[in-house]
Formats: sequence, structure tokens, C-alpha cells
Amino acid sequence: MKATARAHTNIALIKYWGKRDEQLFLPMNNSISITLDQFYTTTSVTFQDDLASDVFVLDGVELGGAEQNKISTFLDLVRKTTKHHGYAVVESSNNVPTAAGFASSASGFAALAAASTKALGYEISDAGLSILARQGSGSACRSIYGGFVEWHMGEKNDGTDSFATQLLSEEDWQLSIISVMVEAKQKKVLSREGMKRTVETSPFYDGWLASLEPDLLATRAAIANRTFEQLGTVLERNAMKMHATTLGANPPFMYWMSSTIEVMQAVQELREDGIQAYFTIDAGPNVKVICQPADERVVMDRLKQLMCVKDLFLCHPGPGIHYLTT
Ligand code: DP6
Repeated sequence: MKATARAHTNIALIKYWGKRDEQLFLPMNNSISITLDQFYTTTSVTFQDDLASDVFVLDGVELGGAEQNKISTFLDLVRKTTKHHGYAVVESSNNVPTAAGFASSASGFAALAAASTKALGYEISDAGLSILARQGSGSACRSIYGGFVEWHMGEKNDGTDSFATQLLSEEDWQLSIISVMVEAKQKKVLSREGMKRTVETSPFYDGWLASLEPDLLATRAAIANRTFEQLGTVLERNAMKMHATTLGANPPFMYWMSSTIEVMQAVQELREDGIQAYFTIDAGPNVKVICQPADERVVMDRLKQLMCVKDLFLCHPGPGIHYLTT
């Protein structure tokens, strides 16, 4: 009744930004991501008969309140799916700078979905696991797979066709993804709340949706043909558009700090100097810079010179879910 799984975080090239169903975590659009090798969550789940409720231990500390609730609500879904009725001890460790725009919820729920079903000996396909993880946090459905991944929004109301698939394995295209930490504090508007406010109030949201199909087509083609410049151009413009929608929300908000803009401008200057580097930003102030491995040293050196940069983490495409023997 015990299993341990590891899932890696992912960074969206084409963003998931808005839900059409909040209960089922059904997105308004397809999204495309890269799974990262350096950031991951390892989770052990043990179902025990002697428990009166689920227990959640994160990095050695037992958590209660909202954190424990989120885990329990997700395990309720696992219990419903597997028809098992016991409680579990969930022990997680995060190798992710939590809540600084590095998506630990993606690796967290992907690892929990995998470890909990495995602990119960429940047979589940990758698509099934992706559907399950999605209902913990939308972006988690992409962390089931390694490399380049697309989450298909699906059309059905019950969510059975809303899951991710792999576009290209992590071995098939080496890219460098540099996570640039400018701020380690907890973000003010969580992605869940931010996307909801944007869908409900931003007049720019329709423009975002209308512009996605060409971005998706260009990204799929760039990945299939491994054309870096095309990929970089689209991912940067997609991130800019997502952030533009937040400025039109009511009340308006923005995730960028002055340091975020400094990093964005440094990346644009690198391009003026002939180095192909592009940025993307999620629901926080930190920036991810994407370049080719041959340029990663030059790009890192340039970013290190910026006073606002607190830390740099170099990542490459990483693997999907795997199980560890304990
Ligand atoms: C900006 O998956 O964290 O990182 O489904 O509400 O848990 P919930 O949101 P979450 O949102 C991620 C938003 C994003 C873009 C992306 O990863 O595609």
C-alpha cells in the first residue's frame, strides 16, 4: 500500500490562462510546455487502516489547514476513482523554489496522482493519470510526460478528453532553459485567482483567445522541425500577450517587477548582439530564458552581470513521471 513517484515541473511555452470549468479544471485553450530536468517533487503515499484522516508532510513538516485540505480533496478524487476507502500518509519533498513562479503545484499533483494510484495497485494509462493530475492543478497534467508536451483542452463537459500528450521526447531536442530568480517571496496574486479575474473582467481576454491558434500551429511546427528561432519568437510573444491580459483586468494587476523588465531587456539586447535567447514569464516576477546549449554560457554570464538577479538555475528538457523503489 505504499509507492513513491517523482514528477518534474514544466514551463509553458504557450500558456494555459483561464478555465471554462473550475471544478474540473477544464482550460479555455490548449497549452504547450517543456518539462524541466532540475526541478521536481518526490512523493510517497502510504494507505493505512489506522488513520482517521489524511496526513500531509512537506519537506519534513506536517501541514494542516488549507495545505492539508488540498491534498485530502485530491485524495478524495483518487478514492472515488479507485473505489478504495482508506486514508493515507503523504510525504513530499520539493526540489523546486516554491511559489516564486516555479510551478511546484504542477510537479506536486503529478507526483501525488502517480504515487497514490500506484500505492493502491490501480491500473491507469498515462492519459488517465494526466486527467487525474489536472484536477489537482491544471498545469500538472503536462508533468506526466517528459520533453515537449501539449495539453489538449478537449471538448467534452466531463473532462474525459482534456489531457496532455508528448510532442517530442526530452532526448530529441537539447535546449537550455535558464530560470532567473529576481524575487523569492510568495507571489501576490496566485495563478488560479489571476486567471479567473482575467477571464471574468479583462476586455483583452478575447484578443488573447483569438490569437492562440497561430501560436499553437507555429509552436508545434517549430518543435517538429526543431527550428529554434521560430520557437523562441512565438513563446516570447505568447508570454507578452498573457501578461497584457492582466493589465486589462478589474482590478488590474501585473506580475512583473522592475527587475523582471531589466531581465527582459537584457534578453532583447542579447538578440541585438546576435545571440538567440528568448524569455517567458509565468504568474510571478521571475523570468525563464530559453536558448540553445551552445549559447548557454554567454547568456548566463550576461544575466549574472545584472544586479537584480539573485540566482540562476540552468535546466534542460527533463523526464516524465517515474517511480522510485523504497
Ligand atoms: C501562468 O496550473 O498553477 O503558469 O489550474 O488553477 O492550479 P491551476 O493553475 P496553474 O496555472 C498555471 C498558469 C501559468 C501558465 C501555464 O503553466 O500554462
